[in-house]
Amino acid sequence: MRKPQPFPHAVAIVGVGMSKFGAFPDKSSRDLFVEAFRELRATVDKGFDPAVIESLYLGNFSSDLFEGQGHMAPIMADAVGLCPVPAMRLEDACASGGVALRQGVLAVASGMQDVVLVGGAERMTKLPTAQVTDTLGAAADTLFEIPAGFTFPGFYAAIATAYMHRYGMTPEHLMNVAIKNHENGALNPKAQFGVTIPDWMQGRIAAAVKKGKPAPTWRDQWDFLHDNAANPMVAWPLRLFDCSPVTDGAACVLLVSGERAREFTDNPVYIIGAGQASDAALHDRADLTTLSAARGAAAQAYEQAGVRASDIRIAEVHDCFTIAEIIASEDLGFFAPGTGYRAAEDGMTARDGARPINTSGGLKSKGHPVGASGVGQAIEVFKQMRGEAGARQVAGDVPLAVTHNVGATGSTCVVHVYERR
Ligand code: COA
Repeated sequence: MRKPQPFPHAVAIVGVGMSKFGAFPDKSSRDLFVEAFRELRATVDKGFDPAVIESLYLGNFSSDLFEGQGHMAPIMADAVGLCPVPAMRLEDACASGGVALRQGVLAVASGMQDVVLVGGAERMTKLPTAQVTDTLGAAADTLFEIPAGFTFPGFYAAIATAYMHRYGMTPEHLMNVAIKNHENGALNPKAQFGVTIPDWMQGRIAAAVKKGKPAPTWRDQWDFLHDNAANPMVAWPLRLFDCSPVTDGAACVLLVSGERAREFTDNPVYIIGAGQASDAALHDRADLTTLSAARGAAAQAYEQAGVRASDIRIAEVHDCFTIAEIIASEDLGFFAPGTGYRAAEDGMTARDGARPINTSGGLKSKGHPVGASGVGQAIEVFKQMRGEAGARQVAGDVPLAVTHNVGATGSTCVVHVYERR
């Protein structure tokens, strides 16, 4: 494979927008995308005319099955007034948003385009959970895996089991990830679950009292997380609070060439590395405790950017299940294989830790509208790097950051490196 080269043209993010993530029975993904685009327009510091946008790259996994609407890219382009510019939908399962971002980056980096819109959207909650599970299952190997009874919680349970067996991790270690991400999500007004686990417990107690039922008597959040009624097993060892939820949401970012960035803002955030790699489906892998596509994508992105893992200040990673965040923290080179769970336990990945991960709340708490998630990650990094993340802002400068977006069980992974100059 060709050695990654620095981009011929610099690529900057100059504006971002996202809908709230959650369950919105009265909104289509089109409505959510319009909300996201309106917010983007308001965040471009010097304003801009949407007529300068040359293309739309849209991440969307399966609007066909989730909403009965295929061919989503031109529909979204029309909804935000971009027709007749070219609009294309990128589909790589839960990495669709990150892959769309990389295509937009390559278009600008090549010099072919100066201003592109990258978006992502998914409306999942129209279907009941069982059908959502089947629809997501289409991203796995439907010849060898799904007929064997696998679902996505089941795949990641297999990954967690292999990791526990090799490295001695326990299910309690996974709970550290859920607790941290809910703490972060509680500070994110766009998060689906914008509450800490203790607040969640209080809500449950208040609801029980209101209904005249006996109030639960959990000692603390650990007790709550071990309660089979409050936090049921989904696929051993993964419980409800180890899973990302089913989510509706949309997100978009405006990419422009470095030459033109200052027309839009004096505070651009540059993307300096964009790696992507593929792998066989999970059943065909020798090692379940690492995602080789993530390691490959990270290696490419770091080399292109001329940085090392140790240079990165914060990361938004694909925590579709708690185990996925632990493995991501190792695949990105932050922690040695088999030590990511200890780093989470020691608070190293907390907002005030040495390497904050998922300050947005991650997919676990912010929500996971699969086609939009990768774009949502870029938005969090943009805000943190500009010091605009509000109550969840990390201390000090954020000169370098990373996003890591996974499709299925790691058959696709895309990693971006961001720089604040
Ligand atoms: N974490 C914490 N609580 C959750 C939750 C989650 N991920 N998902 C739902 N809940 C809560 C709901 O808020 C609701 O709480 P309430 O009773 O206080 O209102 C309760 O659990 C039941 O919600 P419901 O939507 O009926 O849950 P469900 O049992 O149908 O679905 C999962 C739960 C975990 C099966 C579903 O969220 C899921 O499939 N997640 C994984 C999605 C996925 O695979 N994505 C792709 C990854 S690659």
